[in-house]
Amino acid sequence: MPIILSPMNRIPIWKERIEERLRELLRTFEPKHLSEAMSYYLFQPGKRIRPLLTVATAVSLGGDQEDAITAGCAIEIIHNYSLVHDDLPAMDNDDFRRGLPSCHRKFGEAVAILAGDAMLTYAFELLSRKGIFRSLTEGEVISLIHTIAVKSGAEGMVGGQALDISGERDLEKVNLKKTAALFEACFLSGGIVAHRHDLLPDLEGVGRSFGLLFQITDDIVDRDGYYLLLGEGGAKKKASQIHDEVKTLVDKVFKGNSPEIEFLVEAVYKRIT
Ligand code: IPE
Ligand code: IPE
Ligand code: MG
Repeated sequence: MPIILSPMNRIPIWKERIEERLRELLRTFEPKHLSEAMSYYLFQPGKRIRPLLTVATAVSLGGDQEDAITAGCAIEIIHNYSLVHDDLPAMDNDDFRRGLPSCHRKFGEAVAILAGDAMLTYAFELLSRKGIFRSLTEGEVISLIHTIAVKSGAEGMVGGQALDISGERDLEKVNLKKTAALFEACFLSGGIVAHRHDLLPDLEGVGRSFGLLFQITDDIVDRDGYYLLLGEGGAKKKASQIHDEVKTLVDKVFKGNSPEIEFLVEAVYKRIT
C-alpha cells in the first residue's frame, strides 16, 4: 500500500535529501586540513533553514525538487562560510559555535580564513558546473548565479557584516543586508527554479521580511541586537509586527499552497513565544 505523506512530512524528507546532497557535493580535497576545515561547520547539525526555504519555494510553485536542493545547498555552503568568517577574532571573536570550538579555534585563524574563501568559491563552482541543473535553461542558471552572488556580496551579506562592525546604529539597515539578503536569495532561487520570473519581486519581499523576522528572533534568544536596543518587550512587539507582515506576504505569494513555508515561518517565530 502506498504511504501517503502529508505536505508537512516533506520537511524531514527534504532535510535528509539536503544532507545527502551536501555530502555528494563536498568531496574531499588536498590539502586535507583545508578540506576538513571546510567540512567542519557544514556537517555539524545546523537547521538547514535556507535550503529548506529554497526547496519549499520551488516545489510549491511547481519547480524541480532536485534542482532546488542543489541551489539550496550552494546557499547553505555560503551561509556556513559566513559563519566561519563571522566567528574570527577580527569579527565577533567567538570561541564556540553550536556548542563546539569555532573553526579558527580548531584549525587556526589562517586556515579558517582560507576555508571560508574556498567554501564561497566552491559554491559558485558548483552552481556553474556543466549539467548540474536538469530543468533550467542556461539563462536561468546565469540568473541564479547572479542572484546568489549579489545577495551574498558587497550589496548583500558581506556589506551587512561591514555595516555591523562599523557600529551602524540603524539595525534594520544592517539586518537587511547581513541576514535578510541571503534569505532573499533562497526565495528568489526557488522562484527561478520554478521558472516563475513573474513572481521574483514578490518573492524577494517575502525573503526580506522573513530575514528580518529571523534576525530579531535570533537577537531575542541571544539577548543581542534588538533585544539590547528595545528591551525584551519592545523587541517581542516588533517581532510580532514583522511576523504578521511575513504571513501576509506569504499568503499573497503562495495563496495557501505552501504549508511548509508557513510551517518554517511559525518555527522561527515560536523560538520567542
Ligand atoms: C545564524 O544562522 C546566523 C544568523 C544569520 C543569525 P542560523 O541560525 O541559520 O545557523 P545554523 O546554520 O542553523 O546553525
Ligand atoms: C551571523 O550573524 C553572520 C551573518 C549573518 C553573516 P550574528 O553574529 O548575528 O549571528 P551568530 O550569533 O554569530 O550566529
Ligand atoms: Mg556572530
